[in-house]
Amino acid sequence: MQTANTPKTSMYRNPFRPGAGHLPPYLAGRSAEQEEMRKLLSQETITDNAVITGLRGVGKTVLLESLKPIALESGWLWAGTDLSESACISEDAIAMRLLVDTAAAASSVLFEQAQHQKIGYLGDSEVQRFPLSYETLESMYRATPGLVSDKLKHVLEQIWKLLKNTEVRGIVFAYDEAQNLSDHKQEAQYPLSALLEVFQSLQRKGIPFMLLFVGLPTLFPKLVEARTYAERMFHVMTLSRLDEAASREAILRPVEGHPIQFGENSVNTIVTVSGGYPYFLQYICKEVYDLWIAKVTANETPTIPIENIIRKLDSDFFQGRWSQTTDRQKDLLRAVVALDSCDDEFTGMEVSNKSKELPIKPFSPSHVIQMLNTLSDRGLVFRNRFGKYSLAVPLLSNFIRRQYD
Ligand SMILES: Nc1ncnc2c1ncn2[C@@H]1O[C@H](COP(=O)(O)OP(=O)(O)OP(=O)(O)O)[C@@H](O)[C@H]1O
Ligand SMILES: [Mg+2]
Repeated sequence: MQTANTPKTSMYRNPFRPGAGHLPPYLAGRSAEQEEMRKLLSQETITDNAVITGLRGVGKTVLLESLKPIALESGWLWAGTDLSESACISEDAIAMRLLVDTAAAASSVLFEQAQHQKIGYLGDSEVQRFPLSYETLESMYRATPGLVSDKLKHVLEQIWKLLKNTEVRGIVFAYDEAQNLSDHKQEAQYPLSALLEVFQSLQRKGIPFMLLFVGLPTLFPKLVEARTYAERMFHVMTLSRLDEAASREAILRPVEGHPIQFGENSVNTIVTVSGGYPYFLQYICKEVYDLWIAKVTANETPTIPIENIIRKLDSDFFQGRWSQTTDRQKDLLRAVVALDSCDDEFTGMEVSNKSKELPIKPFSPSHVIQMLNTLSDRGLVFRNRFGKYSLAVPLLSNFIRRQYD
């Protein structure tokens, strides 16, 4: 750590922001994804939609936030929301969701438009006072005959008829936590399939409405399971940890001009301990910086208390998840983290074989699969499309190893 001469107390501000969806002081290492998005936005006819996926805390939501101004600057409207508390379990509910989001995104544009131009479909006076309100869209939706997907297609087509006379290039429908979208066979409700079908059909007609789904690694397999053509419909951007250069930027840029600076050793320690995962970078930097501020103002010599920080991270981030697992599940995870490939992907057979080498009661392959599926429901592991498994929480393997060291 280095300090500049006699800083003002007010300059001791901690810029780091650990927390779901909290915009980081500096968004490091995501320019390739932003460039990718610019390319997608330059499509004349939409053939590629986007999926942004990755583990918890890797920075999906804040990347999504950064894409919105890019889309707006290129003339697109931005509709969408966070589906974490999603009530989109029926086809009708997802249709309403889309109409609410579209009305919100399109209202201002059509209001201005209505001043200059007659829009026959909705009636002049109505449009001038309430341009494309949700109520207008909903009544149009209700009045359209057919299946939910027919109704929705019709309303969205009408919206484009209005928009295409404006400067608007198209609409991005951006949904965070989209892994929560599902078809529900038992209730004969297929909201996810309906959504994919509607967009595929609109895009085939040349309507520039683009889907941008953001979610955990279970998301893309889910889309493909719902509609096999989803594989060709989406361009998948998988976010991973930041590389060393980007991690260093995430640490150093936010404190540029600040009186307390990270020294070379501190940066290296933080890069190593965080594994380059954005949430952990923010978390560790925040802890270290808070501590340093306290020490500097007390005229003490600050160091990085990395053991303490790891312990605090364990109790804040991992312990809650760990304490909800049974003893047998803990044994199983212990076998998982004993595999060389545990931070990549592994099979049930590999875990079963490894369990025989450890001081635990061994697991048969079928038992492993059954338990991995339970752990998957709890968000600790996930199964990819090829039937292999991965840990769903970054750096979980290190934490589990620490429990047995
Ligand atoms: N590129 C980045 N550079 C620096 N910090 C980042 C970056 N991306 C994310 N962060 C920080 O990491 C934390 C997690 O980010 P975010 O909430 O976007 O992750 P997420 O992938 O959406 O997580 P979840 O799966 O829980 O929704 C936040 O504190 C954010 O500020
Ligand atoms: Mg998120």
